[in-house]
Amino acid sequence: MSSASAPGKAILVGEHFVVENQPAIAVALDIRAHVTVKKSSLDNILISSKNLGTKEYFSKNNINLKSPLYPIYFVTQYVLKMFKAEPTGFEILIDSDIPPSAGMGSSAAVAVATVGALLKFFNKSIDKEKISKIAYKAEEIVHGKPSGIDNTVSTYGGAIIFRKSEGHIKLEADFNDLKIILADSGISRNTGKFVKKVLMLKDKYEKVFIPLYHSAGRLAIEAAKAIENHDFYSLGELMNVNHGLLSAIGVSNRKLEELVYIARENGALGAKITGAGGGGFILALSFKEDSERIYRALKEKSDRVFICDISSEGVK
Ligand code: PMV
Repeated sequence: MSSASAPGKAILVGEHFVVENQPAIAVALDIRAHVTVKKSSLDNILISSKNLGTKEYFSKNNINLKSPLYPIYFVTQYVLKMFKAEPTGFEILIDSDIPPSAGMGSSAAVAVATVGALLKFFNKSIDKEKISKIAYKAEEIVHGKPSGIDNTVSTYGGAIIFRKSEGHIKLEADFNDLKIILADSGISRNTGKFVKKVLMLKDKYEKVFIPLYHSAGRLAIEAAKAIENHDFYSLGELMNVNHGLLSAIGVSNRKLEELVYIARENGALGAKITGAGGGGFILALSFKEDSERIYRALKEKSDRVFICDISSEGVK
C-alpha cells in the first residue's frame, strides 16, 4: 500500500490565454486530494471516490470510458505498463477535499496524487517531472486541450509562472499576509467547452484577439515581477485588468461580475474569474485582515465561499 496527496490550485492570472502559449501564474492552495493505492487479489482495478460517492470496477473487458473515474484508470494503466506490472489487482482510493468543477484543479490534483502514490508503490521515490507529465494525460481526457498549468502547480506547489512551450519557474515570495477567497457562482460549467468557445471566437476575430493575448502575456510577466517584489497592490490591480480581458473574450456573466464587484467593494486587492469562467468560481486576493469581511459579503450571494492560504507544498 502507498499514499500520496496533492494540492488544488487557483489561477491568479492568464487562464485561457495560457492555452495559446501565453504565460500564466497559478498558486497551490492548502486544500488537498489524498489517494491511497492498495494491492488487491481481484482481477480488476477498483477506483473509488469518497467525495463523489462513486466507485467503479475496471477490467480488461469492461472499461467505462464515460466514467468520471476513467482518467484515473487511464493513468493507472500507464504507470502499471511503465513498470511492466500486471494490469489488474489494484484498489485506488480517492479522498479529496477539493470541490470538483470549481476551477480549483480537483481533477489534476487527484491525477497527480494517484500517479505519485503509484510511483511510490513501485519505485519508492517521487520524480516530480514524471508525475506531472503522466498526470497531464489524465487532464487531456478530462479537458481535451489543457495547458498543463493545473498538473504542474499541483505537482510543484507554491506559486509558478507557466508557459506551455517552456515549462514553469517557481516564484519566490512570502504569502503569509495574504488570503485567497473563492466564491461559487452556482453555475456549473465545462472547462473543455469554454476553451473551445474562446478559441472559436479567437479564430473568427483573429486580428482583434491577438493583441488581447499579447496583453495577457505581458500582464502575467508584470504580475510575476509584482509577486517577487512583494508588491501585492500591483498584483491585485493586474488581476483586475486580467478580469477585464477575460470578460472581453466572452467567459464572464452577470453573476460572476456581481461577485467580483462585491469582493472589490469589500477590500479585495484584486478580484477576477478563476479558471475557465462561464460559471464556476471567482477569486479574490486580500490581506489577511480584510478576508473575513470579504468572505461575509460574498456569502450573502454565494452558497460556497472558501478562504484559503497559498501552500508551498506540492505532491507529497
Ligand atoms: O477551470 P479550470 O480550473 O479547469 O481551469 C481552466 C484553465 C484554462 O486556462 C481555461 C484551461 C487550461 O487548460 O489551462
